[in-house]
Amino acid sequence: ILFDFYEASIGKSESNGKQEILPHDSSHAVKQNDFELVAAKTAGFIVSDLIALHREAQFLYQRTYGNMQTFSPDHYVKVLEESIVRPSLQKEETNVINVIDEVKDVKWDDIGGLEEVKKKLRQCAEWPVKYKAQFAQLGLNAPRGILMYGPPGTGKTTLTKALARSTKSAFLSLNSAAVYSPYFGDAEKTIREVFKKARLASPSIIFFDEIDAMVGNRSANSGSSGVEQRVLSTILNEMDGIEFTRDVLVVAATNRPDMIDAALMRPGRLDYVMYVPPPDYDSRLQALHVHSRQLPLSEEIDLRNLAEQTDGYTGADLESVCREAAMNSLRHNINTNKIEPKDFEEAMCKVLPSVNQQMLDQYRRFQEKSVK
Ligand SMILES: Nc1ncnc2c1ncn2[C@@H]1O[C@H](COP(=O)(O)OP(=O)(O)OP(=O)(O)O)[C@@H](O)[C@H]1O
Ligand SMILES: [Mg+2]
Repeated sequence: ILFDFYEASIGKSESNGKQEILPHDSSHAVKQNDFELVAAKTAGFIVSDLIALHREAQFLYQRTYGNMQTFSPDHYVKVLEESIVRPSLQKEETNVINVIDEVKDVKWDDIGGLEEVKKKLRQCAEWPVKYKAQFAQLGLNAPRGILMYGPPGTGKTTLTKALARSTKSAFLSLNSAAVYSPYFGDAEKTIREVFKKARLASPSIIFFDEIDAMVGNRSANSGSSGVEQRVLSTILNEMDGIEFTRDVLVVAATNRPDMIDAALMRPGRLDYVMYVPPPDYDSRLQALHVHSRQLPLSEEIDLRNLAEQTDGYTGADLESVCREAAMNSLRHNINTNKIEPKDFEEAMCKVLPSVNQQMLDQYRRFQEKSVK
């Protein structure tokens, strides 16, 4: 009951950021920017945790000084440092749920190229917040869901993490292994739990990785079991239940868009469908830059040549190529301080492109079908 109350109270308050919740709930006006440190230290905190934090800090302060005249955010920090109040969204739950601090280091720049996809993602998730007034004026609602599809290793997961970071959203991720894990019990309950936590932690992004494995196509003869259908219904119900004011975005990723039930793609659900293609020349060049940033490359290495020679390689393949080249360099000389072109040549013999024409044709067919 208490949780529902708090949940309802976030929905009502206009504020989403913890920075705003803290002073709002405290009866003492404190300068906003002092709260940045507190906000940074409260990943995984839900509103009730923040209220408990406030109470504890107040208690600590009153015990020491007997009045509230110079109460400051430092007192929150002190309570946090002593772990008197702990986040409800705990780290131990990472199997089911990853909260924001897992993703704070993934930046847009860590993903080479893919400018079109990045732009579209930002429009979907950043614009409704940034241009709230304009959206309201045109009667537009923030999108509730995005489906990203494309070959393995093209950066779908990484893009979603970057999106969570750039929109300062909590990141809750689920894959079919977690949903159907016997350790977490009832699959539908796990789904409901995740949506509940996402509402509590909003703004938030729920990421369904490999959604095709979680909820197969009902019509296709995929042998999708009863439990899969119930999981699908639960997801649909929960998505329909998200209020527009809640700032919960669902992002799903798949390599098999043809396997996804059409019901998930109705308006108001995963209504933005975007293809994450294997990287073109420019994106490959950028990806190579990203993954060789830390490597001591010999002057003879021209990344532009490498980018040209790696048609069909995904971002993940290129990451492996760079790692393998560094290993080769070590194998040749354990005291190496330069990676030579031959290290890369050998690496490319070992790491082969993972995208082929047949795969691309498959995605093209889906694209054509979904445009109609
Ligand atoms: N364009 C890119 N630039 C730099 N690194 C990339 C790029 N694309 C992918 N990578 C790297 O490849 C690895 C795999 O990426 P990621 O897990 O995001 O792919 P994915 O599309 O989710 O794959 P899957 O479909 O198998 O889940 C990551 O370590 C990521 O850094
Ligand atoms: Mg992935």
